[in-house]
Amino acid sequence: MESCQGCHADVYRDYLQTAHFLTSAIADQQSVKGSFNAPNNVFHFPNQVEVRMEEKAGRLFQNIYQAGREKESLPFDISFGSGRKAQTFLYWKNQQYFQLPISYFVPAASWVNSPNFPADHPKIDRVIPSTCFGCHSSQVGMAGVRQEGFEQTELFNHNQIIAGIDCQRCHGPAAAHVNFHTEHPGEKAAHFMQKISALNRTQQVDMCAQCHSGLKPLKKSIFNFQPGDSLNNFRIPIPPMPGKQNEMDVHGNQFQLLQASQCYIASRELTCNSCHDPHKKERDQLALLANRCLDCHKNEHPAGGNLAGADKNFLVKNCIDCHMPLEASRVITLLESGEEKPTPDYIRTHLIKIYPAASEKILQKLMKQ
Ligand code: HEC
Ligand code: HEC
Ligand code: HEC
Ligand code: HEC
Ligand code: HEC
Ligand code: HEC
Ligand code: HEC
Repeated sequence: MESCQGCHADVYRDYLQTAHFLTSAIADQQSVKGSFNAPNNVFHFPNQVEVRMEEKAGRLFQNIYQAGREKESLPFDISFGSGRKAQTFLYWKNQQYFQLPISYFVPAASWVNSPNFPADHPKIDRVIPSTCFGCHSSQVGMAGVRQEGFEQTELFNHNQIIAGIDCQRCHGPAAAHVNFHTEHPGEKAAHFMQKISALNRTQQVDMCAQCHSGLKPLKKSIFNFQPGDSLNNFRIPIPPMPGKQNEMDVHGNQFQLLQASQCYIASRELTCNSCHDPHKKERDQLALLANRCLDCHKNEHPAGGNLAGADKNFLVKNCIDCHMPLEASRVITLLESGEEKPTPDYIRTHLIKIYPAASEKILQKLMKQ
């Protein structure tokens, strides 16, 4: 990725700030967001069991204590999640990666039991498969497969990972492009590089859907996906399910939800890139994102009804909260220390439509102002 910097300095600089680039890392003080200082570094389980996040000689550990005595010491090897919402961590043992018992939940700024782990003890044996790396990294070093009876175990090389999602996960292998342009510095037109805008819409959204259409069984390694490829050759096809949208979780199903939206069905040109700049961090800039709605929906609210009198500026600032409200994920819920009920992660739905209840809330906010 560094090799792109010389010729695409702006893209490169912006890209370093994105959730894509930061989505995995070798775990260290910088990438792991939670606190290692007492009393905020402890997660309590029943029966005097606790997990303490501790630093020893510059390395980070999750240490499991029973009645004050250390029973197990597990290193943070790899962190998953940019720290936008949640982070989870892996440790390496016997050529495998396992998920650490404790994760970090950003909205609550607290350590939590890892998603869907039992509440009564620290679980330390959840195997992490290569599919996680397929969506959260650029490459991971595999050492083969161990076959025991019918059971296959993926084996990895320790910390051999190209962390983060780099340029080539979206643009495909770029060595020929770099070599050509290094040798022909005067050449202004791109060589050996797929022009994204020349791809059809399905090809363009498939580029994003390889990671944004949820966990599906793989036919072949997703690391080999290149722009222009059909996702159906990599994952078992997922037909759109009109009328069944409620069964799709907001987590990770942006592709299916968007496909079920009128904007997608009726426009024929809407892609993920109509709203998202893949090289920039634009999180929480809802007014900027709403401007992209106006590319197709003119600078006035098209609806009448009780919105007819609403201030145009107000509407423009709030398109997103009325038509793409935050919804609780049913899949990603996290248990905080000492709590009994897990807290859901709130995710922006990509099923763009009319949400009367969400709209009413926003309108009431307007009345108060
Ligand atoms: C030696 C210079 C050079 C290097 C290094 C380089 N590029 Fe390019 N690239 C160019 C030129 C010249 C163009 C054409 C003008 C433009 O679009 O900026 C281009 C265009 C592109 C395009 C747009 C293609 C199109 O037609 O829309 C992409 C995508 C791209 N490069 C990706 C990369 C990636 C990824 C890397 C690093 C792996 C990289 N480039 C490294 C010179 C370079
Ligand atoms: C290789 C897998 C992969 C590909 C390809 C991919 N994404 Fe993502 N994307 C992710 C992951 C993983 C996250 C969550 C990152 C995190 O916060 O740790 C994410 C997060 C995002 C976010 C949220 C960013 C934020 O700051 O809140 C947006 C928007 C997004 N992706 C859009 C896209 C678009 C558009 C494309 C296609 C041009 C795309 N993604 C392609 C894996 C991918
Ligand atoms: C099919 C692609 C895919 C696979 C496989 C996948 N993820 Fe994700 N993951 C995503 C995307 C996309 C997001 C961002 C989703 C969103 O906000 O809706 C995400 C979000 C996350 C986050 C929260 C990041 C943040 O700050 O928002 C964590 C932690 C995470 N994944 C861990 C894992 C682990 C561990 C595995 C393996 C068990 C895994 N993921 C497998 C695509 C994937
Ligand atoms: C998440 C997927 C994704 C990643 C990662 C990504 N790009 Fe892109 N890139 C795209 C898409 C999609 C387009 C086309 C945008 C459009 O048509 O509006 C694009 C367009 C480009 C272009 C041509 C237009 C422009 O914006 O200048 C260049 C050059 C480029 N990318 C370079 C890079 C480099 C260098 C990196 C890594 C630092 C990178 N890209 C990482 C998805 C990605
Ligand atoms: C590429 C063009 C395009 C973009 C960008 C776009 N839309 Fe649409 N949208 C359409 C088309 C076409 C329709 C169907 C005809 C209509 O109702 O105007 C539609 C329909 C809608 C509907 C009616 C849905 C229904 O179920 O009745 C809403 C609400 C909507 N869009 C909101 C938005 C919002 C909010 C954004 C920005 C986040 C947005 N659109 C971005 C093209 C677009
Ligand atoms: C009509 C505009 C629009 C389109 C098209 C669109 N998005 Fe989004 N997306 C948004 C908005 C608005 C947000 C909320 C941004 C925020 O809260 O910072 C968002 C947020 C996201 C997030 C973060 C969700 C969360 O809450 O964690 C992901 C991931 C994402 N988009 C991926 C995609 C992918 C993949 C596609 C294509 C399949 C896509 N988006 C198409 C407007 C759009
Ligand atoms: C306060 C909430 C709210 C805001 C803000 C808002 N809308 Fe709406 N929108 C609605 C409601 C409610 C409807 C249903 C029509 C009605 O009953 O007035 C609607 C209808 C629509 C429709 C469908 C119109 C039709 O004829 O079927 C579109 C398209 C749309 N909105 C786009 C947008 C865009 C683009 C923005 C930002 C510029 C926006 N909306 C801002 C609540 C909102």
